[in-house]
Amino acid sequence: MHKDIGEILVSEEELQEIVKRLASEIDRDYQGKDWLMVGVLKGSVLFMADLMKAMKNDFKIDFVVVSSYADGTESTGRVNVIKDISQSITGKDLLIVEDIIDSGNTLSFLEKYFMAKGANSVKMVTLFDKPDRREKDVPVEYVGKVIPDAFIVGYGLDYAEKYRTLPYVGILKPEVYS
Ligand code: IMP
Ligand code: MG
Repeated sequence: MHKDIGEILVSEEELQEIVKRLASEIDRDYQGKDWLMVGVLKGSVLFMADLMKAMKNDFKIDFVVVSSYADGTESTGRVNVIKDISQSITGKDLLIVEDIIDSGNTLSFLEKYFMAKGANSVKMVTLFDKPDRREKDVPVEYVGKVIPDAFIVGYGLDYAEKYRTLPYVGILKPEVYS
């Protein structure tokens, strides 16, 4: 285990079980539709790759980059689009893929942003849900795992751009960021 990790919260095996379950739920709901999966970079990259491989349906993908954390562990509340999707979404069904929902600011913003751009529907899948610090009520259709209020890293999730490549999800030792 990495020296900065206090505890493994979700093992590689459990991550794959969660991904398989979500993939079959989404497959079922989006069958026969022409839809777009939109990954929120960078945290969702490993989750989205595994999710895509586990799904039976074909669909298009795109990515958006947003920022609200500025290298800390708490949301600033302001969400900025740093890189937008590269196609028209008028009349399209979108599924946003996020690594984790915490305050809810990012997903709340993105849902409104894509609806304003003319999407037909915007749904969301998040690997993790940390409900304790929610500021905005966001209806997320697909949730991988509800977790307690701790700062987690690995499997795409970072702290100050580190630890994204860990194959498991661990709780960062508080002394690393305090
Ligand atoms: P929200 O806007 O507060 O819901 O936060 C969403 C974003 O914050 C996620 O996409 C993550 O990038 C980041 N985030 C929130 N909690 C964690 C965590 O525990 N570890 C790593 N990133 C986190
Ligand atoms: Mg993120």
